[in-house]
Amino acid sequence: MKQINTVDELLIFFQKKKIKSKAIGFVPTMGSLHVGHESLVKKCKKENEITIVSIYVNPSQFNNQDDFINYPRNINLDIKKLEDLKCDVLFSPSIEEISKLPEPSINLKLGNLNKLLEAAKRPSHFKGVITIVSKLFKIISPNKAYFGEKDLQQLFIIKKLCVQNFNNIQIINCSTIRDSVGLAHSSRNKKLNPKELLLARSIYRILCEVKKNKKTWRVKKIKNYVEESLRNIAGINLDYFEIIESESFSFTQEINSNCDYYAMIAVKIRNIRLIDNLKL
Ligand code: PAJ
Repeated sequence: MKQINTVDELLIFFQKKKIKSKAIGFVPTMGSLHVGHESLVKKCKKENEITIVSIYVNPSQFNNQDDFINYPRNINLDIKKLEDLKCDVLFSPSIEEISKLPEPSINLKLGNLNKLLEAAKRPSHFKGVITIVSKLFKIISPNKAYFGEKDLQQLFIIKKLCVQNFNNIQIINCSTIRDSVGLAHSSRNKKLNPKELLLARSIYRILCEVKKNKKTWRVKKIKNYVEESLRNIAGINLDYFEIIESESFSFTQEINSNCDYYAMIAVKIRNIRLIDNLKL
């Protein structure tokens, strides 16, 4: 695996090997890799000639400095995992390197995607995500880029970004990878102690219960059920639970069979914020 830390090296690499004429797949990450990330890399390997993974803990998408500082990092283990997966290129630039790149002037029409849920709870988070992803797309210009459904709102926003600004890049959805009892793998899970991990596992159990009852319960009843269930578990606090219709990305009061709906949830365990979702 070729390890590249600077934009200049990356450009030289592209020129030298005529890489640009090959099918390039790209997996952007913030590292601390787990099996969720690995599934994206595996899919990318299958569908492209060259797989590029980036690891960059992007300060501009954290609205809280402590969260940025405490974000789990383990570059040596990440390198080992990517080598085992036979990733072709790891691009892991420094903050200085990324700030040298021109700020993309992007004026996206995002509607509710930039107003509700994560956008409302984490002001400027998606601005940071859009900026870094645009910078990376510009220098790498992949044919395909891989994003997880675990971060559904981010995935929808990146799809809009591509339709409106990077027409040649195809965004590939990757399904959420869960552990044996359904907890979605997340770098933040590494911060949870064993007791807290047990608490986190209630998230998927509750989402499954919602899915099971979607035809017989009204949305109001579903929301009451989720709020009540979590109120009864000490140590886990609900940040939001909503059912959204995916096309308009709007809250719904009713579930009918003509549209796609997702149950979207965010919780806090101690100071660790976890998000998950389930298609209903
Ligand atoms: P990060 O949280 O490292 O996630 C990188 C990619 O892995 C994202 O597309 C995310 O949705 C996907 N992913 C995370 N957990 C997953 C799981 N359990 N199953 C499947 N896919 C999963 O998302 C980011 O980084 C950043 O915002 C980034 C896009 C890199 C921009 O900085």
